[in-house]
Amino acid sequence: MSSLSGRHALVCGASAGIGRATAIALAEMGARVTGLARREDRLQALVAELPGSGHGYLVADLDDHEDLLAKVQTLAPVHILINNTGGPKGGPLTKAPAEELRAAFHRHVLAAHQLTQACLPHMEAAGYGRIVNVLSTSVREPIPNLGVSNTIRAAMAGWAKTLSRELKPGITINNVLPGFTDTERLSSLKAGRAAREGSSTDAVHAAWLSQVPEGRLAKPQETAGAVAFLCSPAGAYIRGVNLPVDGGRLRGI
Ligand SMILES: NC(=O)c1ccc[n+]([C@@H]2O[C@H](COP(=O)([O-])OP(=O)(O)OC[C@H]3O[C@@H](n4cnc5c(N)ncnc54)[C@H](OP(=O)(O)O)[C@@H]3O)[C@@H](O)[C@H]2O)c1
Repeated sequence: MSSLSGRHALVCGASAGIGRATAIALAEMGARVTGLARREDRLQALVAELPGSGHGYLVADLDDHEDLLAKVQTLAPVHILINNTGGPKGGPLTKAPAEELRAAFHRHVLAAHQLTQACLPHMEAAGYGRIVNVLSTSVREPIPNLGVSNTIRAAMAGWAKTLSRELKPGITINNVLPGFTDTERLSSLKAGRAAREGSSTDAVHAAWLSQVPEGRLAKPQETAGAVAFLCSPAGAYIRGVNLPVDGGRLRGI
Protein backbone atom coordinates (compact mmCIF):
# COMPACT_ATOMS: atom_id res chain seq x y z
CA MET A 1 0.00 0.00 0.00
CA SER A 2 1.34 3.44 -0.89
CA SER A 3 2.10 5.57 2.11
CA LEU A 4 -0.42 8.29 1.30
CA SER A 5 -3.31 6.14 0.11
CA GLY A 6 -6.58 7.31 1.64
CA ARG A 7 -5.23 10.85 2.06
CA HIS A 8 -6.47 13.89 0.16
CA ALA A 9 -3.98 16.63 -0.70
CA LEU A 10 -4.82 20.20 -1.69
CA VAL A 11 -1.85 21.59 -3.63
CA CYS A 12 -1.90 25.35 -4.24
CA GLY A 13 -0.04 26.75 -7.24
CA ALA A 14 -0.33 23.35 -8.93
CA SER A 15 -0.43 24.59 -12.52
CA ALA A 16 3.34 25.15 -12.80
CA GLY A 17 6.77 24.68 -11.30
CA ILE A 18 7.24 23.33 -7.79
CA GLY A 19 3.50 23.07 -7.08
CA ARG A 20 2.91 21.00 -10.21
CA ALA A 21 5.80 18.68 -9.38
CA THR A 22 4.50 18.35 -5.82
CA ALA A 23 1.05 17.34 -7.03
CA ILE A 24 2.66 14.58 -9.11
CA ALA A 25 4.91 13.42 -6.24
CA LEU A 26 1.99 13.17 -3.81
CA ALA A 27 -0.13 11.29 -6.35
CA GLU A 28 2.77 8.89 -6.93
CA MET A 29 2.71 8.20 -3.18
CA GLY A 30 -0.98 7.27 -3.40
CA ALA A 31 -2.69 10.50 -2.34
CA ARG A 32 -5.78 11.81 -4.05
CA VAL A 33 -4.80 15.28 -5.24
CA THR A 34 -6.72 18.47 -5.88
CA GLY A 35 -4.61 21.04 -7.71
CA LEU A 36 -5.48 24.72 -7.23
CA ALA A 37 -4.46 27.65 -9.45
CA ARG A 38 -5.99 30.22 -11.81
CA ARG A 39 -5.19 28.62 -15.20
CA GLU A 40 -7.75 25.92 -15.85
CA ASP A 41 -6.14 24.48 -19.00
CA ARG A 42 -2.92 23.85 -17.05
CA LEU A 43 -4.82 22.18 -14.22
CA GLN A 44 -6.71 19.95 -16.64
CA ALA A 45 -3.42 18.86 -18.19
CA LEU A 46 -2.00 18.13 -14.73
CA VAL A 47 -4.95 15.99 -13.65
CA ALA A 48 -4.70 14.01 -16.89
CA GLU A 49 -1.07 13.25 -16.05
CA LEU A 50 -1.49 12.26 -12.39
CA PRO A 51 -1.13 8.57 -11.58
CA GLY A 52 -3.99 6.96 -9.66
CA SER A 53 -7.61 8.04 -9.56
CA GLY A 54 -10.00 10.49 -7.94
CA HIS A 55 -7.90 13.57 -8.65
CA GLY A 56 -9.42 16.95 -9.40
CA TYR A 57 -8.72 20.63 -9.63
CA LEU A 58 -10.03 23.92 -8.34
CA VAL A 59 -9.79 27.12 -10.35
CA ALA A 60 -9.29 29.77 -7.69
CA ASP A 61 -7.31 32.93 -7.07
CA LEU A 62 -5.37 33.13 -3.82
CA ASP A 63 -6.03 36.88 -3.91
CA ASP A 64 -9.82 36.40 -3.73
CA HIS A 65 -10.37 34.85 -0.33
CA GLU A 66 -14.15 34.82 -0.28
CA ASP A 67 -14.37 32.81 -3.49
CA LEU A 68 -11.37 30.67 -2.50
CA LEU A 69 -12.81 29.61 0.86
CA ALA A 70 -16.26 28.91 -0.56
CA LYS A 71 -14.68 26.57 -3.12
CA VAL A 72 -12.35 24.87 -0.62
CA GLN A 73 -15.33 24.07 1.65
CA THR A 74 -16.57 21.73 -1.09
CA LEU A 75 -13.39 19.63 -0.92
CA ALA A 76 -13.63 18.19 2.59
CA PRO A 77 -11.82 16.32 3.98
CA VAL A 78 -8.32 17.63 3.23
CA HIS A 79 -5.45 15.91 5.08
CA ILE A 80 -2.49 17.54 3.33
CA LEU A 81 -2.27 21.23 2.50
CA ILE A 82 0.52 22.70 0.38
CA ASN A 83 0.66 26.48 0.67
CA ASN A 84 2.41 27.63 -2.49
CA THR A 85 1.83 30.57 -4.78
CA GLY A 86 3.55 33.01 -7.08
CA GLY A 87 6.34 35.03 -5.50
CA PRO A 88 6.11 38.83 -5.24
CA LYS A 89 7.83 40.88 -7.93
CA GLY A 90 11.45 41.86 -7.38
CA GLY A 91 12.95 45.20 -6.44
CA PRO A 92 14.64 46.93 -3.50
CA LEU A 93 12.56 47.32 -0.35
CA THR A 94 13.29 51.06 -0.18
CA LYS A 95 11.30 51.52 -3.40
CA ALA A 96 8.44 49.10 -2.63
CA PRO A 97 5.04 50.80 -2.34
CA ALA A 98 3.09 49.83 0.80
CA GLU A 99 0.45 48.33 -1.48
CA GLU A 100 2.92 45.69 -2.73
CA LEU A 101 3.61 44.59 0.82
CA ARG A 102 -0.10 44.54 1.62
CA ALA A 103 -0.91 42.50 -1.49
CA ALA A 104 1.86 40.00 -0.76
CA PHE A 105 0.71 39.58 2.86
CA HIS A 106 -2.81 39.00 1.56
CA ARG A 107 -1.79 36.41 -1.04
CA HIS A 108 0.74 34.55 1.07
CA VAL A 109 0.06 34.82 4.80
CA LEU A 110 -3.68 35.48 4.86
CA ALA A 111 -4.48 32.89 2.21
CA ALA A 112 -2.34 30.24 3.95
CA HIS A 113 -3.85 31.12 7.32
CA GLN A 114 -7.43 30.82 6.17
CA LEU A 115 -6.81 27.66 4.15
CA THR A 116 -5.17 26.12 7.20
CA GLN A 117 -8.12 27.07 9.41
CA ALA A 118 -10.49 25.58 6.83
CA CYS A 119 -8.58 22.28 6.61
CA LEU A 120 -7.61 21.77 10.27
CA PRO A 121 -10.93 20.27 11.42
CA HIS A 122 -10.55 17.53 8.77
CA MET A 123 -6.99 16.85 9.81
CA GLU A 124 -7.98 16.67 13.47
CA ALA A 125 -10.85 14.30 12.71
CA ALA A 126 -8.47 12.02 10.77
CA GLY A 127 -5.65 12.31 13.32
CA TYR A 128 -3.38 12.99 10.33
CA GLY A 129 -2.44 16.35 8.97
CA ARG A 130 0.45 17.78 6.99
CA ILE A 131 0.90 21.44 6.09
CA VAL A 132 3.93 22.35 4.00
CA ASN A 133 4.67 25.92 2.96
CA VAL A 134 6.87 26.54 -0.07
CA LEU A 135 8.90 29.62 0.91
CA SER A 136 12.48 30.55 -0.03
CA THR A 137 16.02 30.40 1.31
CA SER A 138 15.45 34.10 2.05
CA VAL A 139 13.93 32.90 5.33
CA ARG A 140 17.56 32.27 6.34
CA GLU A 141 19.39 34.89 4.25
CA PRO A 142 17.46 37.76 2.64
CA ILE A 143 18.14 37.89 -1.11
CA PRO A 144 19.21 41.23 -2.63
CA ASN A 145 16.54 42.92 -4.73
CA LEU A 146 13.70 40.71 -3.49
CA GLY A 147 12.63 43.12 -0.74
CA VAL A 148 8.92 42.33 -0.57
CA SER A 149 9.53 38.61 -0.94
CA ASN A 150 12.13 38.57 1.86
CA THR A 151 9.69 40.34 4.17
CA ILE A 152 6.76 38.08 3.43
CA ARG A 153 8.77 34.82 3.66
CA ALA A 154 9.92 35.82 7.14
CA ALA A 155 6.32 36.54 8.11
CA MET A 156 5.29 33.10 6.80
CA ALA A 157 8.10 31.44 8.73
CA GLY A 158 7.03 33.13 11.98
CA TRP A 159 3.42 32.17 11.34
CA ALA A 160 4.35 28.53 10.67
CA LYS A 161 6.65 28.23 13.68
CA THR A 162 3.92 29.57 15.93
CA LEU A 163 1.43 27.05 14.55
CA SER A 164 3.91 24.21 14.95
CA ARG A 165 3.58 24.69 18.72
CA GLU A 166 -0.22 24.83 18.62
CA LEU A 167 -1.23 22.00 16.31
CA LYS A 168 -2.50 18.74 17.78
CA PRO A 169 -0.40 15.54 17.73
CA GLY A 170 -0.41 13.96 14.27
CA ILE A 171 -0.62 17.32 12.50
CA THR A 172 2.64 18.93 11.42
CA ILE A 173 3.62 22.14 9.67
CA ASN A 174 6.98 22.74 8.00
CA ASN A 175 8.57 24.97 5.39
CA VAL A 176 10.55 23.96 2.33
CA LEU A 177 13.00 26.63 1.17
CA PRO A 178 13.76 26.29 -2.55
CA GLY A 179 17.04 27.57 -3.91
CA PHE A 180 17.48 28.26 -7.63
CA THR A 181 14.85 25.96 -9.13
CA ASP A 182 14.29 25.58 -12.85
CA THR A 183 10.74 26.98 -13.20
CA GLU A 184 8.89 29.79 -14.96
CA ARG A 185 9.37 31.97 -11.87
CA LEU A 186 13.14 31.63 -12.12
CA SER A 187 13.16 32.35 -15.86
CA SER A 188 11.26 35.58 -15.30
CA LEU A 189 13.59 36.61 -12.44
CA LYS A 190 16.56 35.88 -14.67
CA ALA A 191 15.21 37.99 -17.54
CA GLY A 192 14.36 40.84 -15.14
CA ARG A 193 17.82 40.85 -13.62
CA ALA A 194 19.56 40.73 -17.01
CA ALA A 195 17.50 43.70 -18.23
CA ARG A 196 18.14 45.69 -15.04
CA GLU A 197 21.89 45.05 -15.13
CA GLY A 198 22.27 45.35 -18.90
CA SER A 199 23.77 41.84 -19.02
CA SER A 200 22.64 38.60 -20.66
CA THR A 201 20.48 35.86 -19.15
CA ASP A 202 23.46 33.52 -19.64
CA ALA A 203 25.63 35.79 -17.47
CA VAL A 204 22.96 35.91 -14.75
CA HIS A 205 22.64 32.12 -14.92
CA ALA A 206 26.39 31.65 -14.55
CA ALA A 207 26.52 34.07 -11.62
CA TRP A 208 23.77 32.12 -9.87
CA LEU A 209 25.43 28.75 -10.45
CA SER A 210 28.72 30.06 -9.09
CA GLN A 211 27.02 30.23 -5.66
CA VAL A 212 25.78 26.62 -5.74
CA PRO A 213 28.15 23.79 -4.75
CA GLU A 214 25.99 21.34 -6.74
CA GLY A 215 26.75 23.49 -9.81
CA ARG A 216 23.29 23.34 -11.34
CA LEU A 217 19.69 24.46 -10.83
CA ALA A 218 17.31 22.25 -8.86
CA LYS A 219 14.71 20.34 -10.83
CA PRO A 220 11.20 21.10 -9.50
CA GLN A 221 10.87 17.36 -8.85
CA GLU A 222 13.76 17.52 -6.37
CA THR A 223 12.06 20.25 -4.36
CA ALA A 224 8.78 18.35 -4.59
CA GLY A 225 10.51 15.25 -3.22
CA ALA A 226 11.32 17.12 0.00
CA VAL A 227 7.74 18.38 0.26
CA ALA A 228 6.36 14.88 -0.29
CA PHE A 229 8.64 13.39 2.36
CA LEU A 230 7.37 15.91 4.93
CA CYS A 231 3.81 14.93 3.97
CA SER A 232 4.45 11.22 4.38
CA PRO A 233 4.12 9.10 7.53
CA ALA A 234 7.95 9.07 7.65
CA GLY A 235 7.88 12.82 8.37
CA ALA A 236 5.65 12.45 11.45
CA TYR A 237 8.15 13.73 14.01
CA ILE A 238 9.36 16.74 12.00
CA ARG A 239 7.64 19.96 13.01
CA GLY A 240 8.36 23.63 12.55
CA VAL A 241 11.52 23.21 10.46
CA ASN A 242 12.83 25.22 7.52
CA LEU A 243 14.29 22.74 5.05
CA PRO A 244 16.49 24.28 2.33
CA VAL A 245 16.60 22.48 -1.02
CA ASP A 246 19.32 24.67 -2.45
CA GLY A 247 22.24 22.52 -3.60
CA GLY A 248 24.26 23.81 -0.65
CA ARG A 249 24.02 27.52 -1.48
CA LEU A 250 23.28 28.74 2.06
CA ARG A 251 26.52 29.24 3.95
CA GLY A 252 25.19 29.34 7.51
CA ILE A 253 25.35 26.24 9.72
N1 LIG B 1 11.91 28.80 -8.65
C1 LIG B 1 12.78 29.24 -7.79
O1 LIG B 1 13.99 29.29 -8.03
C2 LIG B 1 12.31 29.67 -6.41
C3 LIG B 1 13.29 29.98 -5.46
C4 LIG B 1 12.88 30.40 -4.20
C5 LIG B 1 11.54 30.51 -3.91
N2 LIG B 1 10.61 30.20 -4.86
C6 LIG B 1 9.20 30.36 -4.50
O2 LIG B 1 8.54 29.12 -4.53
C7 LIG B 1 7.19 29.30 -4.95
C8 LIG B 1 6.92 28.44 -6.18
O3 LIG B 1 7.87 28.80 -7.15
P1 LIG B 1 7.78 28.33 -8.68
O4 LIG B 1 9.11 28.64 -9.23
O5 LIG B 1 7.20 26.98 -8.79
O6 LIG B 1 6.72 29.42 -9.24
P2 LIG B 1 5.94 29.48 -10.64
O7 LIG B 1 6.56 28.60 -11.65
O8 LIG B 1 5.79 30.93 -10.91
O9 LIG B 1 4.51 28.88 -10.26
C9 LIG B 1 3.67 29.58 -9.39
C10 LIG B 1 2.35 28.85 -9.22
O10 LIG B 1 1.53 29.64 -8.36
C11 LIG B 1 0.27 29.87 -9.00
N3 LIG B 1 -0.24 31.17 -8.61
C12 LIG B 1 0.38 32.37 -8.74
N4 LIG B 1 -0.42 33.34 -8.30
C13 LIG B 1 -1.58 32.75 -7.90
C14 LIG B 1 -2.80 33.23 -7.38
N5 LIG B 1 -3.04 34.53 -7.17
N6 LIG B 1 -3.78 32.34 -7.09
C15 LIG B 1 -3.58 31.02 -7.30
N7 LIG B 1 -2.44 30.50 -7.79
C16 LIG B 1 -1.47 31.36 -8.10
C17 LIG B 1 0.57 29.77 -10.50
O11 LIG B 1 -0.58 29.34 -11.20
P3 LIG B 1 -1.60 30.26 -12.02
O12 LIG B 1 -0.78 31.34 -12.68
O13 LIG B 1 -2.23 29.29 -12.97
O14 LIG B 1 -2.57 30.80 -11.00
C18 LIG B 1 1.60 28.65 -10.52
O15 LIG B 1 0.95 27.41 -10.47
C19 LIG B 1 7.02 30.79 -5.25
O16 LIG B 1 6.51 31.46 -4.11
C20 LIG B 1 8.46 31.24 -5.51
O17 LIG B 1 8.66 32.60 -5.29
C21 LIG B 1 10.97 29.77 -6.10
